[in-house]
This record gives sequence, C-alpha cells and structure tokens, in this order.
Amino acid sequence: MASLDVTGVTKSFGATHVLHGINLAVEDGEMIVIVGASGCGKSTLLRIVAGLETATSGSIRIAGREVAALEPAERDIAMVFQNYALYPHMTVEQNMAYGLKIRGLPRAEITRRVAEAAGLLGIEALLTRRPRQLSGGQRQRVAMGRAIVREPKLFLFDEPLSNLDAKLRVQMRAEIRRLQRRLGVTSLFVTHDQIEAMTLGDRLVVMHAGHAAQIATPMEIWARPADTYVAGFIGSPAMNFLDGTLAEGGHAVALKAGPVLRFADGPRAGGEGMPLTIGIRPEHVAVAEGGLDLPLDLVEPLGSETVLHGRLPGGEALVVKLGGPAPGQSSLPVAFPAEALHVFDGGTGKRLDP
Ligand SMILES: Nc1ncnc2c1ncn2[C@@H]1O[C@H](COP(=O)(O)OP(=O)(O)OP(=O)(O)O)[C@@H](O)[C@H]1O
Ligand SMILES: [Mg+2]
Repeated sequence: MASLDVTGVTKSFGATHVLHGINLAVEDGEMIVIVGASGCGKSTLLRIVAGLETATSGSIRIAGREVAALEPAERDIAMVFQNYALYPHMTVEQNMAYGLKIRGLPRAEITRRVAEAAGLLGIEALLTRRPRQLSGGQRQRVAMGRAIVREPKLFLFDEPLSNLDAKLRVQMRAEIRRLQRRLGVTSLFVTHDQIEAMTLGDRLVVMHAGHAAQIATPMEIWARPADTYVAGFIGSPAMNFLDGTLAEGGHAVALKAGPVLRFADGPRAGGEGMPLTIGIRPEHVAVAEGGLDLPLDLVEPLGSETVLHGRLPGGEALVVKLGGPAPGQSSLPVAFPAEALHVFDGGTGKRLDP
C-alpha cells in the first residue's frame, strides 16, 4: 500500500497539448475518481502513472519514490481496463495466476492468492472455465481477481464498467467499492459517468481539457463547485445557469429574467453591474405562489420524481425537478431561494464567494 504524488505533470503528443500541469496527492488507501468528458486526458494521466506513457514534464512518486525510471512491471501497479484483456485460451484460474507465475512466485503461494481472490469475488465455481464461457460481469470479476492477486501498491481502473449493462454496472460499482475499502489499496478510477464518480470516490478530480478543474470530496464538489464547468458537469439534471449583474453594493443579483435576489451569505466583491452567472440546481428551484411564471414545454415523469423543462420571461431555459408525480398545469410559478444560489463570475466562470 502506498501514497501517490503527481506533481506538475504535462503531456504533449507533438503539437497536441493534452495535460497542462496536473497536481494530485493521493493518500494511502484512498480511492480517487478521475471524471471528465471524452478526450479531456483521463486515460493519458492513468497511463503515465502506470508507466505505459511518458510525461513530457513533471514527476510521479509512489510511496515517496520517483518512478520515472521504472518500467511498468517494476511499479507494483495493477491496471483493470474496459476490455478486461483476458487470455482467451487460459482458464479463469490460469488467467489469475499468470502474472504471478511470470514473477516466479512459489506454486503454493499462487494457489493461496488465487483461492483468496476467487473467494472475495465469489468466482470459485468459475475457475476452470475459459473467458468465452463467462458473462460480461463474470469477466470483469476475473479481471479484478487478476489485479488483486498481485497485491499491488496501487490499483488503476480505466472505465472498467462501461461494457456492462446498466443494472450490472450499479452492482459491480458497489462491489468494487466494498472490495477497495476492504483491501485498502490506493486506487485511481477513471470514468466519464458522474454518478459512478460520486458514488465511488473518496475524492474526485474533475478534469476539463487537460486541467484538473477541481479536486475535492463528492459532496464538496456538489455543494461548492469551483466553476461553471464543474457545476454543470456534476449533478443530474444539470445545474441551471441564469445571467445577471451585481446589484445593491454586492449584496444581490439583478437577474436578466427580472427579479433582484439578495444573497443569503454576504456581499460579493466587484463593481455594481458586473456580469454574473447564477447557478441553481433543478431540485432547488421552488414552486411558490407569486413566483415567476414558467411555461412548460416538456414534462418527464420518472416515477418518484418529475423533471420539468420551461423558459423564463426573456427566453432562458430552466429545468425544475420535483418530488412526486407530474403536476397537471401547463405553467408553474417558480422562485429561487437565496441559500440555493451559486454565484459565478460572468466572464471567467469562476465561483465567487463572499
Ligand atoms: N498516442 C497519442 N497520440 C496523439 N494524441 C493522443 C494520443 N493518445 C491520446 N491522444 C489525444 O489526447 C487527448 C486525451 O486522450 P485520452 O485518451 O487521455 O482521453 P480520455 O479523457 O481518456 O477520453 P475518453 O473518455 O474518450 O476515454 C485526446 O485528444 C486524444 O486524441
Ligand atoms: Mg479514456
């Protein structure tokens, strides 16, 4: 088990700059989820940690030791990929044992580790089968088993659940979380799925175009997103954004849609009239007598809740999430509670706190 320190890591493929200086300190036993849109550099970062790719600059330390000069096999890391990469001609047992055999571990030790991992994963009955005789979820377990038997310092997961159907994904996600807690192995888990990220990570790295836009616990990111990108990426349905300007000596926002809303948590710095972007999550929009009239253009009933889409006076889109079944009206009176507002600089998109 080990800590991981990523310091100032950049990566360019020729003229293409993919990573722009990533800093990340992972504690021993921590599960970090790297989440972001396709192409933002998640796999590249993971591959650099694994030693499958070389950083253009910066350093990687595992348990305090610089690993730049070490081959992937010398880094004491186990990686689980989306496509599992199992050997088709070997049984489950042979697949799990292979890496240990190559390293020359004694046969009794290999048998012990394979049996223990198979027990942990509930695949004892599958040990004599070949990969093609397994379901997707079973193959995923075998790939996990192969990583576990190596007793690595670090687990790296690159979208390991994305080939599974929705139900199995949820189940395997919970299993991976329990297993990681139980084994206490420091882990990096890459996904583009924000629900997976929120449920799996002790902390998240939200990546945006080769930068770490925010590194924090899931709840902190949800409650205090660092910028409009993170705010719009984490949370479902996505946060609403409304244009406005700073008013009342920094104590309020004058929304383009009409109302002037006073901040619950104190004034923001900046001149009167400075452009702001106000964020409010769909579940925090209030439905209240005397609110703004929101004509609805789409109602999505989800059973236990309903998602409503409409346009405010002035044309800005607004999404509202209500607990319970769909209301019958074609429009709703909506209001924006002061304590639910997120205030961002209208120019840079950065969060503005009092
Ligand atoms: N070997 C390479 N040569 C040139 N460009 C590359 C290479 N590998 C990756 N890239 C580019 O680097 C960027 C980041 O790629 P990366 O695979 O890290 O993204 P990702 O965040 O993992 O995306 P996804 O969610 O689609 O897997 C992309 O624009 C990609 O085209
Ligand atoms: Mg990738």
